[in-house]
Amino acid sequence: MLDRADNSFVLPPEIDRRRTFAIISHPDAGKTTLTEKFLLYGGAIQMAGQVRAKGEARRTRSDFMQMEKDRGISVSASAMSFEFKDFWFNLVDTPGHSDFSEDTYRTLTAVDAAVMVIDGAKGVESQTRKLFEVCRLRDMPILTFCNKMDRESRETFDIIDEIQENLAIDVCPASWPIGVGREFLGCYDLLNDRLELMDRSDRNVIAESVEINGLDDPKLAEHVPANLLEKFLEEVEMARELLPEFDHQAFLDGTLTPIWFGSAINSFGVQELMEGIGKFGPKPQVCPSDVRPISPDESKVSGFVFKVQANMDPKHRDRIAFVRLCAGHFKRGMKLTHVRSKKIMAIASPMLFLASDRELAEEAWAGDIIGIPNHGQLRIGDALTEGEMLRFAGIPSFAPELLQSVRATDPMKAKHLDKALTQFAEEGAAKLFKPMIGAGWIVGVVGALQFEVLASRIELEYGIPVRFEQTQFTSARWLTGPKENVDKFIDGNKGHMATDHDGDPVYMTRLQWDIDRVERDFPELNLTDIKTVM
Ligand code: G4P
Repeated sequence: MLDRADNSFVLPPEIDRRRTFAIISHPDAGKTTLTEKFLLYGGAIQMAGQVRAKGEARRTRSDFMQMEKDRGISVSASAMSFEFKDFWFNLVDTPGHSDFSEDTYRTLTAVDAAVMVIDGAKGVESQTRKLFEVCRLRDMPILTFCNKMDRESRETFDIIDEIQENLAIDVCPASWPIGVGREFLGCYDLLNDRLELMDRSDRNVIAESVEINGLDDPKLAEHVPANLLEKFLEEVEMARELLPEFDHQAFLDGTLTPIWFGSAINSFGVQELMEGIGKFGPKPQVCPSDVRPISPDESKVSGFVFKVQANMDPKHRDRIAFVRLCAGHFKRGMKLTHVRSKKIMAIASPMLFLASDRELAEEAWAGDIIGIPNHGQLRIGDALTEGEMLRFAGIPSFAPELLQSVRATDPMKAKHLDKALTQFAEEGAAKLFKPMIGAGWIVGVVGALQFEVLASRIELEYGIPVRFEQTQFTSARWLTGPKENVDKFIDGNKGHMATDHDGDPVYMTRLQWDIDRVERDFPELNLTDIKTVM
């Protein structure tokens, strides 16, 4: 999304109020808890605990899988929409585990901003850094929430320094914590000159807010004990001297992040963060395409599929394509062109995801995420338009880092395995390669845990127990070049060749030496480890 000069176009009010973002964090920093509080404040759920409800209730959410519950990781990304004050928020959930980087990467192509959650005691952790780097590739605006301030945490300056140094981004405090750990009292809202006091007795109560007339207001001393007040005033004075002021454009450019301190579990600081997302967060941005940049104010509807999820509800074998709308005002029943197949699709049952429910979407606007049930026509990267033959740029597919062959432990079920594997490949959960010589499939993934996830899903969703085994290959590269040369190369190297699930040729080997040799001996051919879905 190219243009973050927020005033460059006037948007219809419905688009103008949309904020589409993701939360990035290291596992355990509090993403689920924060999401839950967002939904609570957004009126999308009535009670905390619904998002992480155990058992049956939890299965109503997209991450119904046993595996997710057992491991406490979220394998599937899903979208949630809710209103907050004058804003309409679309929160796209990113899978938290490091094994799922490709899925996460694609998810981040569908949002305009990210909320980075860090644990106040742990600071910037490995997964946060990786996700941050992905956001930076697109210069995405980032809001930071420093969580768990009710526990012993680091000194505020330490946390800010660490973010500035580790992530090379300017940090501007939007709030400043008063006291730490057991002494944590609340925060001073530096942007609105308000004192926010945390209520420890009820975790779902919105913090008490005290209007303060600047830092020399005597009212401060009525609420803050003298020892804490002195330290706090000293720190704020230093912060104002040493740290950058809030600069909206720098934030939109991705070079400065405002930081709020809080405690998601105590509902503390969450509302201020949400206000920040609404007030400062980017409106739906321009989406790049191969024809021209698509501006959200264009009247014609267009969007792209960034995620396909099958069997969201094991009782109904459905497949849902998550579509980011890039422009226009979508209405249920619209006929859109599926650019890849050039076929018209009537979008009869589009869905919006409201907390634990999905609802028919009667309408949606640029910036929204809608789910389109389908039987496999819609794949990741596909564009839907009102007739224009364009493709959205920037949804890459990465060569897998691990390859294994797969077979059904019951040979009678081998035929059905093809169907299951194809579906997972289309969903983007794995890469599927069909060797040109011999039978069977080779499955490629980015992280080892994905084999386990797949095995568990194939058994759970298709009733086929499978076994993954080592293959003779360790690397896969897409092969491109003039057709004649490609065909000739394939003929002479059939033992190394496979096709991916789109039918594109892939060269497989165990040795980097082989790859180097092909590149040297066949200069007209390209071996690539990224295939851009266009
Ligand atoms: P994640 O999605 O990022 O992995 O984190 P999640 O929200 O699941 O939170 C991880 C743990 O941290 C949970 O505890 C959660 O209750 C706790 N937590 C979240 N926010 C805060 C906070 O502001 N303060 C404190 N003290 N703890 C917080 P758990 O014991 O793993 O799970 P549970 O038994 O509470 O469900």
